[in-house]
Amino acid sequence: MKKQLITVFVMAILFALPGKAQKPVYLDDTKSIEDRVKDALSRMTLEEKVKLCHAQSKFSTSGVPRLGIPELWMSDGPHGVREEILWNSWGVASWTNDSCTAFPALTCLAATWNPNMSAIYGKAIGEEARYRKKDVLLGPGVNMYRTPLNGRNFEYMGEDPFLASTMVVPYIQEVQKNGVSACVKHYALNNQEIWRGHINVELSDRALYEIYLPAFKAAVQKGGVWSIMGSYNKVRGQHACHSELLLQNILKGQWGFDGAVITDWGGAHDTREAALNGLDIEMGSFTNGLTSESVFTYDDYYLAKAYLKMLKEGKVPMSTIDDKASRVLRLIFRTSMNSKKPWGSFTSEEHYKVSRTVAEEGIVLLKNDPLSKKIPALLPLDGAKYHKILVVGENATRRLTEGGGSSVLKVKKEVSPLVGLLAKYGDKVVYTKGYESGRVMYENIDKIPASVVDSLRAEAIKQAMDADVVIYIGGLNKNHLQDCEAGDRDSYALPFGQNELINGLLKVNKKMVMVLISGNAVEMPWVKDVSSILQAWYLGSESGNAIANVLSGEVNPSGKLPFSFPVKLKDNAAHSFGEICYPGDSINEEYKEDILVGYRWHDTKKIPALFSFGHGLSYTNFSYGKAIISDKAMAEGDSLVVTILVKNTGKIAGKEVVQLYIGDEKCTLVRPLKELKGFKKIALQPGEETVVNFTITADDLKFYNDQASKWIAEAGKFKVYIGSSSTDIRSKIEFSLQ
Ligand code: BGC
Repeated sequence: MKKQLITVFVMAILFALPGKAQKPVYLDDTKSIEDRVKDALSRMTLEEKVKLCHAQSKFSTSGVPRLGIPELWMSDGPHGVREEILWNSWGVASWTNDSCTAFPALTCLAATWNPNMSAIYGKAIGEEARYRKKDVLLGPGVNMYRTPLNGRNFEYMGEDPFLASTMVVPYIQEVQKNGVSACVKHYALNNQEIWRGHINVELSDRALYEIYLPAFKAAVQKGGVWSIMGSYNKVRGQHACHSELLLQNILKGQWGFDGAVITDWGGAHDTREAALNGLDIEMGSFTNGLTSESVFTYDDYYLAKAYLKMLKEGKVPMSTIDDKASRVLRLIFRTSMNSKKPWGSFTSEEHYKVSRTVAEEGIVLLKNDPLSKKIPALLPLDGAKYHKILVVGENATRRLTEGGGSSVLKVKKEVSPLVGLLAKYGDKVVYTKGYESGRVMYENIDKIPASVVDSLRAEAIKQAMDADVVIYIGGLNKNHLQDCEAGDRDSYALPFGQNELINGLLKVNKKMVMVLISGNAVEMPWVKDVSSILQAWYLGSESGNAIANVLSGEVNPSGKLPFSFPVKLKDNAAHSFGEICYPGDSINEEYKEDILVGYRWHDTKKIPALFSFGHGLSYTNFSYGKAIISDKAMAEGDSLVVTILVKNTGKIAGKEVVQLYIGDEKCTLVRPLKELKGFKKIALQPGEETVVNFTITADDLKFYNDQASKWIAEAGKFKVYIGSSSTDIRSKIEFSLQ
């Protein structure tokens, strides 16, 4: 009894002591994040603040151990959670619990033209990241598709700022519901891999604001992204990771971003600029972000010892570190120290289903025409009609989740196209490789001996002679000089002797279905001779099932191209102005095509694309009625509604992406013929019809006026184009802005 009384007495004294028993504000999750940030900051030493601003390992930063504030753990991104990497080298940690679900690469997600797909994708990958105890997922990437040679296009969302802006937002929102920060990348203008670490991009304000920034702006203002990754390249003379223009003026100034700016790995180059221009977290310094190591320690980082010294000597203001530390703390409270976050889940059936659904909705049917009376459109492929289905091509069996650079994945499951087709068509399927590309490597490629090339080709041609149909599964892969980080493609043509192989096959068998697996457009010299072509992207864990489902017709294709396929490289804008425009002179690069990127160039310059932006066929047909507009004139501040009736006139259910483009008929500055300003994906049963509505506001009519440094819409006539692709326009209507 006496003992109990003493305990009660001691407790009472403890509670009465000021500050002792009360939870500090920064630990109290009933308080606002801003109050917690302020409180934590007020308790920290200068050294502790600086420690928040640079890496402590390849993929983590320190917390504040003394105060119990946890570290931040990051992982690539963007289409699966990368396996664990060693503390201080690029080597893999060889854990046995980190084999993830591979989701389709982001070109495929963009090709769904369906924001609901972005949402389920973001939710699933966010859950995987959370389960793996990651605080920051390094993705998604929204650099614009400028040239088909860019080795990283497969990680991005295509050539149109409106499409990418619309698709990036749900991904971010759903990832972040898991208490995991998305880290949208690479901000900005990392539109090529060649010389990515130093090339200096010069471009107009118009191109910057109209083409290259909108998806980042949407990520910040609509997606509410908590972190953003600076890019490797320079912009107007300054490295993007500490660019005053990009970070201070635009991101943090104009857009009001309250999160943290993280470097790309090795993207920082100067302490003063990093301190003053808004870089918050420095990662991977003195390495190339992929393979090279360094003798320097984390204390040698630009935002470590050197920054501390400058702060102490008064060479940079203390306000810079308070701002950086506050942003990192905010990120920590939102993620690693978020006590309300869920637990996540990993490689669940639901995640595989998401992966397959996105893959099926993103596959694009490029062509499905009869070649002659004898050779009808071959898709969907009815197995009952055939005895021997010959599958040719290395991509039918190659593991395409491997390679590519930092987005490489170690997966628990990857169903190859061949396995998918075997499951669908059974022992009618015969496989031969046809060509070979060598091992997955980042800075080198295997040279395949001519004798091997010849014999693989000869065997495939022999097999094709008596096949009822040939399914060719080729394209690019994730090797150096293909769809792979740290290098661009060296040619627009298909690599590894595939064109010779395809021509050889077509000579003996004209019934060919082509399945191209790539994250980029490729040249198709044989396009007229092939009846059916599918663009199948890097589809992840369920690749083979998704491809087989679309080929067989179990799934009706509904993907649309998120970028144009030029006939030849010279038809692409970036390749029309000589080397200074791409890839630059090794120091500088000028974006001379300006705002005319992708279909904006093809349309305006009347250079037909091989397959246009927004193109994608279905196994059914859709008819469009006449567009109706609510008013023929609008004033600023008003809005108009455009409606159009769309009907499924075929025999099977299908999905269509109804696209709305707007063209400014007369303007004091050059404008593209038309620009995407709305799209809706609809599902219709056979015979079913629906009215699709779009609302147009003055914002949809604006361009960025360089001289006035603002977005303006000029009064006059505008044309609305509604169609099934950027070139398959089904109805036009005009209105004027007063
Ligand atoms: C890439 C980034 C990636 C980082 C970390 C860099 O090489 O450019 O996209 O997130 O490495 O792996």
